[in-house]
Amino acid sequence: MGATNITWHHGTFTREERQTELGQKGLTIWFTGLSASGKSTLASALEQHLVSLKIAAYRLDGDNIRFGLNKDLGFGPEARTENIRRIAEVSKLFADSTQIAITAFISPYISDRESARKLHEESNIPFIEVFTDAPLSVVEERDPKGLYKKAKAGEIKEFTGISAPYEAPVNPEIHIHTDKVSIEEGVQVIVDYLREKKFIAQA
Ligand SMILES: Nc1ncnc2c1ncn2[C@@H]1O[C@H](COP(=O)(O)OP(=O)(O)O)[C@@H](O)[C@H]1O
Ligand SMILES: [Mg+2]
Repeated sequence: MGATNITWHHGTFTREERQTELGQKGLTIWFTGLSASGKSTLASALEQHLVSLKIAAYRLDGDNIRFGLNKDLGFGPEARTENIRRIAEVSKLFADSTQIAITAFISPYISDRESARKLHEESNIPFIEVFTDAPLSVVEERDPKGLYKKAKAGEIKEFTGISAPYEAPVNPEIHIHTDKVSIEEGVQVIVDYLREKKFIAQA
């Protein structure tokens, strides 16, 4: 049951005024892809790169958020949807505050990612979906946390790609084949996109 008798309290200046004062535009970069496809790796390399350019960027990573904010959620379909709903709200807050929010969650369902996009776009906040794409055979081979091995042995239930679905993006803003480009090249593709769209200043 949602709260009643609540009213949105507006601040005394607009997002645009905040952006002008702080010299930065807020937006969300939303990574999606199978486990071990490179979301966390690219998200943290991108975060470091942007911060080195003096751009306030902050990463929200799946596992980290499940340690705290979302520690009450499991991996069934409803919990995954609620996980993503909360992250979308939090990333929107970061972006509204003029930061670059970088999220790294499997976010396997198209409908959940579309809801996250809608939440941003309704408020005129750019939402950039980045698909870290690599064949299942490659991510199973990488298996940095040994999760595919456990999932295939039946030790982890509802594991995306093995025993739970992954719905690939149809038209993401950025599509990175992490089995074909290096981490540095992947970061560069995203930074080039941000520059081209004038979300960050030219070098
Ligand atoms: N081009 C690449 N981009 C991203 N990760 C890569 C790439 N090539 C190899 N890797 C490796 O793949 C693994 C991806 O793991 P991780 O970033 O934790 O994935 P996810 O967060 O999607 O589960 C890391 O061990 C990383 O070093
Ligand atoms: Mg990760």
